[in-house]
Amino acid sequence: MMKNYKRHLITAALPYANGPVHIGHLAGVYVPADIYVRYLRLKGEDVIFVCGSDEHGVPITIKAKEEGVSPQKIVDRYHEIIKKAFADFGIAFDIYSRTTSSIHYKLASDFFKKLFDKGEFIEKTTKQYFDIEANQFLADRYITGECPQCGNDSAFGDQCEQCGSSLSPTDLKNPKSAISGTKPMMKDTLHWFLPLNKHEKFLRTWLLEKNKHWKTNVYGQCKSWLDAGLQPRAVSRDLDWGVPVPKEIKGSEGKVLYVWFDAPIGYISATKELTDEWEKYWKQEDTRMVHFIGKDNIVFHCIIFPIMLKAEGSYILPENVPANEFLNLEGDKISTSRNWAVWLHEYLDEFPGKEDVLRYVLCANAPETKDNDFTWKDFQSRNNNELVAILGNFINRTVVLTHKFYNGRVPSKDTVTDYDKKTLAEIPRIKTSVENSLDSFRIRESLKNAMDLARLGNKYLADTEPWNLYKTDPDRVKTILNISLQISTNLATLISPFLPKTSQKIAQFLNINPVTWDLVGSDNLLKSGHIINKTDLLFEKIEDDAIEKQLNKLEKIKKQNTLNIKPVNPQKELIHYEDFSKLDIRIGTVVEAVKVPETQKLMQLTIDTGIDKRIVVAGIAEFFNPEEVVGRQVAILINLEPRKLRGIESQGMILMAEDEDGSLKFIIPDKVTKPGSVIS
Ligand code: MF3
Ligand code: ZN
Repeated sequence: MMKNYKRHLITAALPYANGPVHIGHLAGVYVPADIYVRYLRLKGEDVIFVCGSDEHGVPITIKAKEEGVSPQKIVDRYHEIIKKAFADFGIAFDIYSRTTSSIHYKLASDFFKKLFDKGEFIEKTTKQYFDIEANQFLADRYITGECPQCGNDSAFGDQCEQCGSSLSPTDLKNPKSAISGTKPMMKDTLHWFLPLNKHEKFLRTWLLEKNKHWKTNVYGQCKSWLDAGLQPRAVSRDLDWGVPVPKEIKGSEGKVLYVWFDAPIGYISATKELTDEWEKYWKQEDTRMVHFIGKDNIVFHCIIFPIMLKAEGSYILPENVPANEFLNLEGDKISTSRNWAVWLHEYLDEFPGKEDVLRYVLCANAPETKDNDFTWKDFQSRNNNELVAILGNFINRTVVLTHKFYNGRVPSKDTVTDYDKKTLAEIPRIKTSVENSLDSFRIRESLKNAMDLARLGNKYLADTEPWNLYKTDPDRVKTILNISLQISTNLATLISPFLPKTSQKIAQFLNINPVTWDLVGSDNLLKSGHIINKTDLLFEKIEDDAIEKQLNKLEKIKKQNTLNIKPVNPQKELIHYEDFSKLDIRIGTVVEAVKVPETQKLMQLTIDTGIDKRIVVAGIAEFFNPEEVVGRQVAILINLEPRKLRGIESQGMILMAEDEDGSLKFIIPDKVTKPGSVIS
């Protein structure tokens, strides 16, 4: 079927370390990849499975700014959370690394340098928005302005979140820097570009002729990218967070590698961190590399990364990229910013011990050929009607009857009928169908096929009714239970890629180690006389109230979202008292107030601070008129570095409380207090 490969290198997309992972990640990438890897391992293949956190990119720097911490703090936090969630769900990476590791910095930097030295880049000077006050270039996300499509005045330079249109920063009317609020200017900047177009001929042959066996969604996307024509793509950025462009390259100062240049190299660095033999996995033609990803990553894994690897010259290319579509939640797109997700750590708090249930439901709904929906009702019914009623029921009946009739001793199989033979012959047939589906990355079909073995077992018990037969034909019952136990033993291995914990449990009930894959299909895995253990239930029913609870939780989130109510911000990290005592906060009195012309939000206030009368520019004009502000007492941070807003120097900051609807309220003393009084 396939070229003779000696080993497999399986990668799963590196998740961004700017938030925890949710069911969409698991269903689209990590559960399918893990199932596939476990299958290869069971078959005794040489396989490594690598992943790690993607720790660069602009969104991480924005989150850091919002929380007032360094980007490193952010990625340290989420790296641990993500790593733990994967471990909890049994995603069995050989290594879960991260792109801030020193191995990665060196490897990514060397990779860039090598392409540069080989003349694989073109250098171009382009114009980019620059914030003079903050003295830095602005990433697209750092520019806000009015959306040309819908008029939303807080659209981002890459996208308008109100109408969903994707934008470029120059599309915005009245662009503003999200850092200083000032109007950015255009400034020249030098960058390195990977000329994708130069590799078009190679890509056409490789993708469109040699990779016809890829999934149609992947093949189709590649083809439409090629047909649309490839352009040079910038692989560096003006940013202070990322792998620096190598110093030896002229003009490198202040520039880092584009996150999508360094992240896939993370697969290589993770492998290098894992094993000294990493080059064998990356550079020998008899290695089969497979990338598990979501559909938004297709162009990077099928076009850009392969071009990087080919341009470097010593690496192999992926043999397959079985990308999946997206999973929705209760009919709506999963969204981190709208908190529309089932977070893995929350699931585990609420359904402890039910890791395999979620693996099962996500695999059964894996969005392989189209976007799919996760609903709590479906979760419940798959648990109750499939895991409990089919798999759990079969194993439970088999083990219980073996104890009841034979004190847990496997009976002998003396009276094999034609019906028994037909049943036993189904086992290798089912195994083959599981293999065929897995080999072509039809993972949900393979789960269904594996469950057919439990269905077979249930049908066998229902047809033969050993519980009734025992009184009249006990010898026949021996054979029936022997066969049921053989099916159970096969099942323990056959379902183990999908439900690893459940497989362990069944093996423990049967008092065995799960057999290897090559033995699956045999009808004599458990010898008569072998003693099995007592069981508890494999799965338990999930009741309506547990599902109601989840639905109510989502209902609440939906309400908050439509009212645009913000959830309460989580606590920031701990600080020392000294940090607090640096803040000089006083009571002041507003003596004058005027709106800043040509702005929506800004008001110029003159404050009596007890020390002096000073000007402060505050973003309160949407909520107050100047007249109602004059005479008020305020809390003011007086030792904040002065900064210019709309040409006015603001000497301090008024402290305001932001309510859940975004409205602002003054913080005032409960009795009139002398200006200059210290707040501490
Ligand atoms: N962090 C990216 C995402 O979540 C995936 C990176 S995959 C890699 O979409 F190839 F770059 F590593
Ligand atoms: Zn818009």
